Amino acid sequence: MKNIVIKGTGHFAPKRIVTNEYLSTIMDTSDEWIKTRTGIETRHYIDDDKCTSDLAVEAAKMAIKSANIKPEDIDLLVIGTSSQDMIYPSTACIVSDKLGLNRPMAFDLQAGCSGFVYGLSVATQFLRTGHKKIALIIGADAITRFTDFTDRATCVLFGDAAGAIILTTADDEEDAILCLYEGTDGSGAKYLTLPAGGSKEPASPLTVENRRHFLHMNGKEIFKFAVRISIHMITKMLEETGLSIDDIDHFVFHQANMRIIDAAVERMSFSKEKVIYTLNEYGNTSSASIPLTLSLASEQGRIKKGDIVLMVVFGSGLTYAGSIVRW
Ligand SMILES: CC(C)(COP(=O)(O)OP(=O)(O)OC[C@H]1O[C@@H](n2cnc3c(N)ncnc32)[C@H](O)[C@@H]1OP(=O)(O)O)[C@@H](O)C(=O)NCCC(=O)NCCS
Repeated sequence: MKNIVIKGTGHFAPKRIVTNEYLSTIMDTSDEWIKTRTGIETRHYIDDDKCTSDLAVEAAKMAIKSANIKPEDIDLLVIGTSSQDMIYPSTACIVSDKLGLNRPMAFDLQAGCSGFVYGLSVATQFLRTGHKKIALIIGADAITRFTDFTDRATCVLFGDAAGAIILTTADDEEDAILCLYEGTDGSGAKYLTLPAGGSKEPASPLTVENRRHFLHMNGKEIFKFAVRISIHMITKMLEETGLSIDDIDHFVFHQANMRIIDAAVERMSFSKEKVIYTLNEYGNTSSASIPLTLSLASEQGRIKKGDIVLMVVFGSGLTYAGSIVRW
C-alpha cells in the first residue's frame, strides 16, 4: 500500500461580500440575531454569470500551482458538490475540460456538506492501491443559488466558495492520511432537502409556485445531530489512531454554526485556541467549508508542515465524515 502526501491546497471565494446589515435591509432579520445565533458576519455570493464549476476551477488552479505539478498528470478528479452546474454532465467533467486535464477519471460526489471529506476518503483508496497517482479533490458549492430569500432561517447561513487539495503517492515520505471516518444516518434525510427537480418531483409550475426548488431545512434537528455526531467522530478517530486530544494541533469543524462547534469543544473540554474558524467571514459554504478552511489556514501559515489536523463534517443525508491528517 502506498503512502500518500498532501502536495498543495487552494481556495476561492467570489468577490461579492454580503453583510448581515445588508440582509437586514431585504428581510426581517438583524446583525445581532445572526451573529449571536450563528457566529456569521459576512458571506460571499457568486456572480450572476458564474456557476459552481467556475468556483472549482479557481480553487483547483491555486492548488495545482501550490503543489507544483503539471495539470495533465492528474489522473483522478473528485468534486464534492450539491449545487452542480446542471443535473448532468457532472461538474467534474466540466471542470476537467476548463482546466485542460488529460482525461482523468472525473466524477461528482453528492454527500451534502460532507462531499469533500467523502472525496478525500474515496481518493485515498485509489492512491493507496496505486491505481491512481495524483488526485485533485475539490469541495465547491454555490448554495446561494438554491436558498430561499423568503426563509430567513436558512438563507442567512450560506455563502459560496470552493476549496481544493492535491494528493499524491509518495515512497519516501511519511503517510499523511492517519484516519478516515464516514457514515450516513438516512433517517435524517428529511431534515435537509431540495425536494424538486429530480425524478420524484420533476419541475412543474406547481413545484415552482410551492418553492420546492429551494433548500428546506429543520435547523433544530440538524443542530442536535451535528453536535452529537461531531463528538462521536472525534472520539472514534482518536480511539482508532491512539492519538490523544493533546496530539491534535488543529481542529477544523464544518463551518455551519459557531454554537455547534463551541458545544462540541466544550463537551470534549479542549482548548478553543486549536479550533480554526472561518464561518464568521464566509458562512456555511457546504462542501467547500473544510477545504476552504484548510487552505486559508495553510496560506496564513497557521497550519504548518508536520502538524496533525483533525477535521469533521456533517451534511444533508444526513451524512458525516472525518479525517486526521499529517500536513
Ligand atoms: C438555523 C439555526 C441558526 C436557528 O437557530 P435556533 O436558535 O435554532 O433558532 P430557532 O429556529 O429556534 O428560531 C428562534 C426564533 O428566531 C427566529 N428566526 C429564525 N431565523 C431568523 C433570522 N434570520 N433572523 C431573525 N430571527 C430569526 C425564528 O422565527 C424563531 O422565532 P419565534 O421564536 O418567534 O418562532 C440553528 O438551528 C442552526 O444553525 N441549525 C443547524 C443548521 C445547519 O447547520 N445546517 C446546515 C447543515 S450542513
